[in-house]
Amino acid sequence: MIPTPHIEAQSGHIAKTVLMPGDPLRAKFVAENFLENPTQFNGVRGMLGFTGKYKGADISVMGSGMGIPSMGIYSYELFNFYNVDNIIRIGTAGAMQPEVQVRDIVIAQGACTNSDYSRQFNLPGYFAPIASYGLLSACVEKAKAHGVSYHVGNILSSDIFYDDDKTANEKWCKLGVLCVEMETSGLYMNAARASKNALGIFTISDSLVTGEATTSAERQSAFTAMMEIALETAVSI
Ligand code: HPA
Repeated sequence: MIPTPHIEAQSGHIAKTVLMPGDPLRAKFVAENFLENPTQFNGVRGMLGFTGKYKGADISVMGSGMGIPSMGIYSYELFNFYNVDNIIRIGTAGAMQPEVQVRDIVIAQGACTNSDYSRQFNLPGYFAPIASYGLLSACVEKAKAHGVSYHVGNILSSDIFYDDDKTANEKWCKLGVLCVEMETSGLYMNAARASKNALGIFTISDSLVTGEATTSAERQSAFTAMMEIALETAVSI
């Protein structure tokens, strides 16, 4: 069923591994600055996607949009209609622990959520969305080799950026959740259902603990480190 309602690419124009930032302009930045000979495969709704080469391997990069519903649509179509095997989300997140500092990298071993996305599976309990171990362990090796400050653990994929319940974050903090973002648990569920692989890695853009935020220049350099780690992970698997 391609093209899909949301992706206009022809068969074979998307690589087996796709990196997904939330922002489609970030996808364009990655394609232009890290990939050789990138070609655009999607422009529907401005959700730009590109395929090019990194160290000789085909890699695609495409925006996911914000939130689990948007990531849910794109990752579903990539896994199930374009035969993508691996999706690595590369995003930003807000720190929820004092040891997680702005500019650090977090690798999401598991992704808690306040979303009802898993209700579609009609489970007699709660699904625990986790990273694919092969991608997780490869990424940890690449982060170690890069020399960045990184953390591996549980994160929160929240449906709510402006939460009316100002105490909500503290409750997740008490359980050791490292940071909050808005897409990864949906990605992990889609990967599990499709028997595919997924990983979420983030640069910390702000801290809910200290109130500190990064400047856009700092975000750019931290983002570059994460990109290099993601690309090295992508070509090592
Ligand atoms: N909340 C949700 N998503 C985010 C945040 C946050 O504080 N920071 C970066 N992405």
